[in-house]
Amino acid sequence: MQTVERVAEVRAAVAKARAGGARIGFVPTMGFLHEGHLALVDEAKRRAQFVVLSIFVNPLQVAPTEDLARYPRDAVGDAAKSAGRGVDLLFIPGVDEMYPRERRVEVVPRSLHTRWEGAVRPGHFAGVLTVVAKLLNIVQPDVTVFGQKDVQQATLIRAMVDDLDFASEIVVAPTTREADGVAMSSRNSYLSPTDRGHATVLSRALFAMRDAFRHGERRVESLLSTGRAVIDTERTVAIDYLAVTDAATLEPAEDADEHSIAMVAARVGPTRLIDNVILGQ
Ligand code: PAF
Repeated sequence: MQTVERVAEVRAAVAKARAGGARIGFVPTMGFLHEGHLALVDEAKRRAQFVVLSIFVNPLQVAPTEDLARYPRDAVGDAAKSAGRGVDLLFIPGVDEMYPRERRVEVVPRSLHTRWEGAVRPGHFAGVLTVVAKLLNIVQPDVTVFGQKDVQQATLIRAMVDDLDFASEIVVAPTTREADGVAMSSRNSYLSPTDRGHATVLSRALFAMRDAFRHGERRVESLLSTGRAVIDTERTVAIDYLAVTDAATLEPAEDADEHSIAMVAARVGPTRLIDNVILGQ
């Protein structure tokens, strides 16, 4: 695995791989890699012969109230995990490489961003889209893999790629879960052992909603009551939102169908977690 910090080095390595006939796969991350990220690498490797993984903690998508310096990092571990999983090129740019001058242009969503995560993190998705647009232009991949866990992010990135004619195919890979169902996330590292136990209530709620759907329930209110009843068994977990949404618009669904997404965000102790399932899968 080659590790580079400069845009020009990425372009040179990718051009060489492409000249050799390789399809280019790309997994953008903010590092502190866990099995969920590595499953995205596996997916990229199934679809491409040369896989680039980027690690960049993007200041544009982190609110001033969130501490950038507190974001978990593990440069040595990340490099070892990337190499072990077959990443060909690790791109670790510094902030000055990604944002060398005051920005005059950014990518701002027009829809899909006001509810859910967008409602609690103003400007977050403009930060995500701006950095993903830059990364796609730097790497110029044939296929880029994102995780289903951040479904609103994935939906907005698809929209950006469609609306602005980016060339990369976008693949959204299923959420990787711990044995007890908890969705893998860098944020799980903030959970105390007790809160980690309580966190299972979120996936259990979503699975109960999916089970009800499989048994024929299509009424959203009923599905939501099923999910709420599970979460309410854990008094220390505070729901931020629990919703059944249309897969394309992420607006609340009127009646559930197989593409509808059950989404949850909740505070488990001081840590805010999100998760979702596609009801028909
Ligand atoms: O999902 C993430 O880790 C980030 O939002 C992404 C897509 C790498 C952009 O910074």
